[in-house]
Amino acid sequence: MCGIVGYTGPRDASEVLLSSLRRLEYRGYDSAGIAVIGEHLAIHKDKGELAVIEHSLPSMHGGIGIGHTRWATCGRPSQENAHPFTDCSGTIALVHNGIIENYAALKKGLLDRGHIFSSETDTEVIVHLVEERNSGDLREALVSALSDIKGTYAIVLAMEGSEKIVAARKENPLVIGVGVGENFVASDVTALLEYTSKVLYLMDGEVAEISPSKVTIFDASGQTVRRVPEMVTWTAEDAKKGGFAHFMLKEIFEQPEAIRNTLIGNVDRLEQDEGVLGEDVPAIKLVACGTSYHAGLVGKYVLEKLGKIPTTVELASEFRYSSDVREDPLVIVISQSGETADALAATREARRRGLHTLAITNVVGSTMTREAEETMYTRAGPEIGVAATKTYISQLVALYLTAMRIGHRRRTIDADTLRNMRTELTSLPQVVRRVLDNSESVMEACGMIAQSRDAFYLGRNISYPVMLEGALKLKEISYIHAEGYAAGELKHGPLALIGPDTPVVAACMRDHTYDKMIANLSEVKARDAPVIAIANEGDEEIEQVADKVIHIPEVQPLFSPFPLSVATQLIAYHVANLKGCSIDKPRNLAKSVTVE
Ligand code: G6P
Repeated sequence: MCGIVGYTGPRDASEVLLSSLRRLEYRGYDSAGIAVIGEHLAIHKDKGELAVIEHSLPSMHGGIGIGHTRWATCGRPSQENAHPFTDCSGTIALVHNGIIENYAALKKGLLDRGHIFSSETDTEVIVHLVEERNSGDLREALVSALSDIKGTYAIVLAMEGSEKIVAARKENPLVIGVGVGENFVASDVTALLEYTSKVLYLMDGEVAEISPSKVTIFDASGQTVRRVPEMVTWTAEDAKKGGFAHFMLKEIFEQPEAIRNTLIGNVDRLEQDEGVLGEDVPAIKLVACGTSYHAGLVGKYVLEKLGKIPTTVELASEFRYSSDVREDPLVIVISQSGETADALAATREARRRGLHTLAITNVVGSTMTREAEETMYTRAGPEIGVAATKTYISQLVALYLTAMRIGHRRRTIDADTLRNMRTELTSLPQVVRRVLDNSESVMEACGMIAQSRDAFYLGRNISYPVMLEGALKLKEISYIHAEGYAAGELKHGPLALIGPDTPVVAACMRDHTYDKMIANLSEVKARDAPVIAIANEGDEEIEQVADKVIHIPEVQPLFSPFPLSVATQLIAYHVANLKGCSIDKPRNLAKSVTVE
């Protein structure tokens, strides 16, 4: 986790660093800091969000600097543990994202050799090692220090008396922004968009020397690498709030467009047979974390229904413990960021096992796109809110397209069905728009949830994984304990907890599960639990078992996850808003989890 930035050029570095860090706060926000080199190296850092250091910012003039926003892994959030760190002489500053596994042994050696440490972090050993190896060339000193380090890192260093900043990466993202007479480096492109769209992605094992007029990249053996900068199509506006109270709400409302963009980017390949999806695979394994895992759970229903292909879904963090059974030669790893450590480890493990790999991700140039054999982009645009919304809906679209493509190749769906599904997908932006138009009335149903400590989310069939995701969204941003359950499982345990203080949110789609859902809700009502039913427009029968009904458009049953997901996102958002929670940056969470 953690966001890191660096700048060298004619501007006031502190302004550039703070504005870039603002875009990276989703990566962590328990402390922040910047180092600026003017005449001397100056550091300002503290515990808390970026705003804390902005408010207390002393005058820091200089055109070279590095900055950091932290999500604590080693050492509690505190001013001492905030980055940047300096060496004993106070002339070298360093920021780091990742974990140094052998830091305890390194620290012991450094302490024995007289180094003085100011923090509990693993990071601080790096700057002291650099200090020991430094004979004027910062890059050489860093390369030498890195040869003793075990772990993962994205590192940016600056040194008094030099206009060069030095960056290195191993399993944590870093991208260089190329300007005119100035250059930048950051954990991701959203931090650079205000200044440049021209970027160079740093690869694992590479080190870069960045001065205002030049960027030189070195590979692991010290040879220079020639790389042509790429143009990013996202704009700075894409990464701003655009009038919404929160990024999450903006992103929820951007879903019609996100669906359209995922379709535009991928729909043409439905009838193509090339690449990993053209392989004749007997089974599929979907691997992911968090919300992406829930997208995978929905995907399983669709892949099995349309492709008639056995599909399993596994948590990326558990994949490595599974037995190496070769019946699932296609592993689809789903990751919004393309940087989640567990998802990357699973991709590598799949390749080690000789399996085909397809990445579904939203971030062009992310590490996963280089690790997987093939990539399918969701193209939802930048997502800033920690709770995933539009990227999740885009993942669903990508999975539906994948299932349709496999179904077409395996002849398990005919041309008419394929056409029909395509039409249904194309109409989803309007369907979602109608749910969004109803946002205010969703709010009315949220008061009774906001007052509770616990809530249950129930669904059957394909609505079941959607409700797992609905419960996760509520947990993440409102801090209400919420559990998603297959409605049929209710009486096998959770019914013991149902009562007047445990609201139940239930997906009651007008399909073959409807009667059973009504029966389940009657059991809930008999225990006096408040019921919030998400039901189809025109359904009046539902009023008999529900205290509040949120109506959503009726679509073909297989496509109901789209309107249903949006309704549950709105519930989570409004509940969290009623409770005054920090919606875009929920406590203890981070958008991109780059530690295992
Ligand atoms: C974090 C985020 C979640 C996300 C999960 C997986 O926990 O807070 O919103 O679902 O990581 O992230 P990925 O980028 O791999 O989809």
